[in-house]
Amino acid sequence: KILILDFGSQYTQLIGRRVRELNVYCEIHPFNHFPEIDESVKGVILSGSPFSVRDELAPRIDLDEIKGKMPLLGVCYGAQYMAHFFGGEVAPSDSREYGRANLKYIDQSNDLFKGINLDTQVWMSHGDTIVQMPENYKVIASTSDVQNAAYKIEGETTYAIQFHPEVYHTTEGRELLKNYVVDICGCKQDWTPASFVETTVKELRDQLGNDKVVLGLSGGVDSSVAGVLLHKAIGKNLTCIFVDNGLLRKNEFEDVLDSYKDMGLNVIGVDAKEKFWNDLKGVTEPEQKRKIIGRDFIEVFDVEAHKIQDVKWLAQGTIYPDVIESVSVNGPSATIKSHHNVGGLPEKMHLKVVEPLKLLFKDEVRRVGKALDIKASLLGRHPFPGPGLGIRILSDITPEKVRILQEADAIFINTMKEWGLYDDVWQAGVMLLPVQSVGVMGDERTYENVVALRAVASTDGMTADWVHLPYDFLAKVSNDIINKVRGINRVVYDISSKPPATIEWE
Ligand code: XMP
Repeated sequence: KILILDFGSQYTQLIGRRVRELNVYCEIHPFNHFPEIDESVKGVILSGSPFSVRDELAPRIDLDEIKGKMPLLGVCYGAQYMAHFFGGEVAPSDSREYGRANLKYIDQSNDLFKGINLDTQVWMSHGDTIVQMPENYKVIASTSDVQNAAYKIEGETTYAIQFHPEVYHTTEGRELLKNYVVDICGCKQDWTPASFVETTVKELRDQLGNDKVVLGLSGGVDSSVAGVLLHKAIGKNLTCIFVDNGLLRKNEFEDVLDSYKDMGLNVIGVDAKEKFWNDLKGVTEPEQKRKIIGRDFIEVFDVEAHKIQDVKWLAQGTIYPDVIESVSVNGPSATIKSHHNVGGLPEKMHLKVVEPLKLLFKDEVRRVGKALDIKASLLGRHPFPGPGLGIRILSDITPEKVRILQEADAIFINTMKEWGLYDDVWQAGVMLLPVQSVGVMGDERTYENVVALRAVASTDGMTADWVHLPYDFLAKVSNDIINKVRGINRVVYDISSKPPATIEWE
């Protein structure tokens, strides 16, 4: 495997994903929690950082521990830190170098640049530059502005690059990473979805033996893949619970339950609509809604789980981005929204926790799901928040409002599927606004609700752009909603990006 040491760059996870895309396993660790190195580690990558090596608070590690002992690749800050640590000089550059650049010089005899074309485009993002290199260091690539754009240490497999090979705009970044990971570090490209399934199933059998396991299914990709994987490993010892919190999409409970049963999973469907609606009565504050929905879920789940005799484990569909210990640059970040739906579940239940997907990125979960023959319609589902329609009703929640929103949402989503737009959109939904407006239907004055349509493009939900859906499509959806859903007489389209807006309205 490859170890990636995180100095806090926004791109660190992307390095991890790029290495994984080469079918090579890698792990991301904070720079100050350097793990024990054993023979499974074939090489190390030092990430970028928002800091300058000259800052007093800059993240530092002792490079003598690794340099020369195994292949090492410094990226951006990693490159500067290495030069700085071994006696070179890093200084502010005259102008911040940000954006596209081209490599005007490449030492093509060098392993790292094997097959990379002269003049290739790279992505730069740095304020400092290496003005003087330590002894023994050899420049292996330059741009017209940056003399020391890449270097290596003579006689060692130690390399550094000032640009970011992991970002899309570095057109031959993939080849460069492959040169490093495969040729220089000697990693085999055998980490595939099928091999992941095979090893994980075996590990789960060893770990769980004949114990009973309970898993909460949500209809989402992660919990579904976790369920099928566990089912493959332990069969009937897995019981799944799927709770209807009264805030799901139209027909979702029945549809999803059926598809789980088709896949052979042992699923208990729990209708807890009334409990959630009762407890949410009169509550308008978004964070309070989330807390109530999370708490109620835990209560319902706990009761159901304890009906299973001798259950020992709670399985969760946690994925890698949730467990990477992030290097926080500005201290604990402010809670914008509390997304963690069921944080307190394991503590409350006194069960051991098993998380079969905790090493995977989202796109890898989908590929593993495909290797497990899970239906494309399930794997391709848009993300849907745990609190469901509860945070898309921008006022207190009532069964009637849920029904109205379900109808409008179904029209939006189904039309999107009919028009072949569903897969172009990362996530979509309808918001029921606490606003009434005057309309006219036939000869009658109406005074009814407004809904907002939201459709975004994103890769991870962290940032998002509103999607430029065709006007004809929007016109059709608006018309259908107003004509078919009693209680709505106006439809608007949300054209805000995240940031500064968020995807959900609450
Ligand atoms: P925001 O609204 O913060 O949403 O831009 C980003 C992504 O997270 C989803 N989301 C949630 N998911 N529990 C969840 O499981 C939550 O409380 C929650 N709030 C937002 C949202 O749907 C989007 O995919």
